[in-house]
Amino acid sequence: MGGSVRGHPVLPRRAPAPALIDRPGAIEAAGRLGGPMDPSEMLRTLETERARGRELFAAAASLEELEAANVTVLGRKSPLGAVQRALGALAEDQRRQLGKAVNDVRGELTDVQERRREALTADAESALLAADAVDMSLPGRRPPIGSLHPLTLVEDEIVGLFLRLGYRVAEGPEIEDDWHNFQALNIPEDHPARTMKDSLYVSIPGHPELLLRTETSAVQIRTMQSQPPPVYIVAPGRVYRRETSDPTHLAVFHQVEALVVDEGITFADLKGTLEAMAQGLFGEDRKIRFTPSYFPFVEPGAQIGVTCFRCGGVGCQLCGSGWIELLGAGMVHPKVLENCGYDSERYTGFAFGLGIERVAILRYEIPDIRLLIEGDVRFLERFGVA
Ligand code: PHE
Repeated sequence: MGGSVRGHPVLPRRAPAPALIDRPGAIEAAGRLGGPMDPSEMLRTLETERARGRELFAAAASLEELEAANVTVLGRKSPLGAVQRALGALAEDQRRQLGKAVNDVRGELTDVQERRREALTADAESALLAADAVDMSLPGRRPPIGSLHPLTLVEDEIVGLFLRLGYRVAEGPEIEDDWHNFQALNIPEDHPARTMKDSLYVSIPGHPELLLRTETSAVQIRTMQSQPPPVYIVAPGRVYRRETSDPTHLAVFHQVEALVVDEGITFADLKGTLEAMAQGLFGEDRKIRFTPSYFPFVEPGAQIGVTCFRCGGVGCQLCGSGWIELLGAGMVHPKVLENCGYDSERYTGFAFGLGIERVAILRYEIPDIRLLIEGDVRFLERFGVA
């Protein structure tokens, strides 16, 4: 920038006084000692410098260029500086007069420069602000909202259904003892579930008979032991079986147990309750059927099927025969009531147990039960709220 000044007259090089030429500082001294600049030349220089300075400061496009212009116009080696140094050689009168003129020009140019500096600083700040600007009107970036797992959705729905019927939720431990998991449930010594082959035993020194509960039915026992009748409970929870997983089986899965014990409870109550559940879960026009079945803790016991919600019961790929087997149920065996200290002459009850995974794969037509535990986001996204 410094080199592009237009219209600046090249100042005559001053020849220093011969007598002083070989002394350091001789050029400055020349001014003081009455150098070769006469007052009219000094005045001219002041005027050209005033004009040149204004022009240079105005033309500075950045703070760096402004600083360069400052050195050129007001610096020690500037024409203005030379005029200032030449003042020393003038007579007192002239010195005062010209000194004031120099100060005026310097003051004026300093002001001009200062205003330019303010403008450039403001520009630089607004450029910085513009570069940094945040557009508040842009839509935000939403983190993906998770969803409840399909098993949780199904469990909540089943439990919700029974809460509305007036049941309460009960719980039991996942590590059970032989008495709660088998003996109290009237499961005989030679029942296959009792072998190491079918159940998962836990080895804790001093507790030889602990196992991972094989069904939520153990919660029936724990509930009856903890309270007198009447009982109206649902007990959702995790259960464990020693088996290899495949498209329809998992070694760890979930059930919802229901238990009702009261005076005058009959098989008709069980039927009505199951029908209400099947219709609540799979649609108003579902029918249910009972097929005799054996569970040691109920008598009579039954497998319950519902008409297929896809084909309505005529038979399709999903159900085959038109019926979908859904759960086990029955009237609580009097021995079970007695094992828990209930009077089996006065009280009767029903119980049933339902696999949550089974309801989920039917409900959402999931081809492989293992998808429920793999945590694959592509699968789980289907259940999102977005
Ligand atoms: N506990 C049984 C099972 O896991 C289901 C069941 C519960 C059957 C209650 C009858 C009564 O298969």
